[in-house]
Amino acid sequence: MTALFDKWIGESTPVFLGTNHLSQELPFSSWYRFKEAFSPEIVRQAIVDHPAKVETCIDPFSGSGTTALTAQFLGVPSTSFEVNPFLADLGRAKTECYDIDELRSSFRSVIESTRDQENSFDRNSGAWLPETFVEPGKNGKWLFNADVAHQVFQFRDAISRIKDPTVKRLFEVILGSSLIENSNVVINGKGRRYRRNWQQRPKTKYDLLDTLQVRAERCFLDIESFNSKSATPARIELQDVRDEGLCFPEFDVSIFSPPYPNSFDYTDVYNVELWMLGYLNNRNQNVDLRKQTLTSHVQVSKTFSRLVDQPRLLTETVAQLRLQEDLLWDKRIPRMIETYFFEMSNLLEKLAKSKKRNGRVWVVVGNSQYAGVQIETGRILAEIAKGLGYTVVKNEISRKLRTSPQQGGSPRLGEAVLVLA
Ligand SMILES: C[S@@+](CC[C@H](N)C(=O)[O-])C[C@H]1O[C@@H](n2cnc3c(N)ncnc32)[C@H](O)[C@@H]1O
Repeated sequence: MTALFDKWIGESTPVFLGTNHLSQELPFSSWYRFKEAFSPEIVRQAIVDHPAKVETCIDPFSGSGTTALTAQFLGVPSTSFEVNPFLADLGRAKTECYDIDELRSSFRSVIESTRDQENSFDRNSGAWLPETFVEPGKNGKWLFNADVAHQVFQFRDAISRIKDPTVKRLFEVILGSSLIENSNVVINGKGRRYRRNWQQRPKTKYDLLDTLQVRAERCFLDIESFNSKSATPARIELQDVRDEGLCFPEFDVSIFSPPYPNSFDYTDVYNVELWMLGYLNNRNQNVDLRKQTLTSHVQVSKTFSRLVDQPRLLTETVAQLRLQEDLLWDKRIPRMIETYFFEMSNLLEKLAKSKKRNGRVWVVVGNSQYAGVQIETGRILAEIAKGLGYTVVKNEISRKLRTSPQQGGSPRLGEAVLVLA
């Protein structure tokens, strides 16, 4: 069962299960830098150590698609869900089956056709983008120099003419993963900042073309080496898993890492790809997407909810937060925390309905901290799960996360691996 997985992983079994810091360079995992991914090793453990044969696996928060990809390497069919359309396409691109000769020849045609259009710069292209995206930008700052942006639009135009949807998707992912490197910003911590001396070291369309070719070659080699894995189905649905009508398929193992209640806004952090690739065409769509993500931040106004029967630890935590209200950087934080657990409780309830009799739910989740008050996410979720009829098989701290600089930056926050039966 694990031969193909072992070939994929090689020597890089990570020390911490919850982080992918050693697996970022693995085939497929390296296609796009997604810092919040967990390690393939934890998915392997959830599947291989399961008390019965695992026939199906699900992940409600696909992110970069680690569960789908790892399950595929282990020959286990999976279904994953992801609300961010670029990330959903990233996971799909990693798990689809390709005709490698067709891929290489389509990629050559795309590159050649963008060369043919060298001199047809349309000043109106990119009109849907926020002002800060393309030179001349706003207040003397912009994310993409004009010729880089122009090259992106030409590449997109050439991709749009490809008939095969899987090839099209893979090329969009390659383009998406080449964007930040050829922009004037870096993604760091909770957002993006301009590179030092970005005006003195301008990125050009030739840099972008180089990146595209290097990345494409890396993808093609990975696919060539492991195309056989795609015989195992891996479905990735574009879906807000909080939707009331959603019913998960029956599963043996569900393994996932939800957003942590730490104010990290995924829509914001992966915003450049969403806009530049045309997943977002106006600000309302941006706000809608933020509203569709789990309530783990206060960057957008949302309706707050709370559990009628909260575990005592959650009630006490929220009471402590309210006592520190003057020190919180946003007064809505206590309500955001309550809503986070309300939504996670609904999710666990939905999963319980689709879990097979011996099925298990693995959750990797981090604690967070506001005004010195720790949110012990794993412990609170374990209490909620018990109330829903789960048995807590394991609730272990797998590593300590550094708190944000505003909170002192000390390495005190735990990341828990919770196993529920
Ligand atoms: C911590 S990441 C998952 C990382 C993943 N385990 C991996 O290895 O790449 C959480 C993901 O949940 C997604 N997400 C947030 N709210 C969601 C929702 N309501 N429905 C589905 N996905 C959601 C985010 O876009 C993000 O990609």
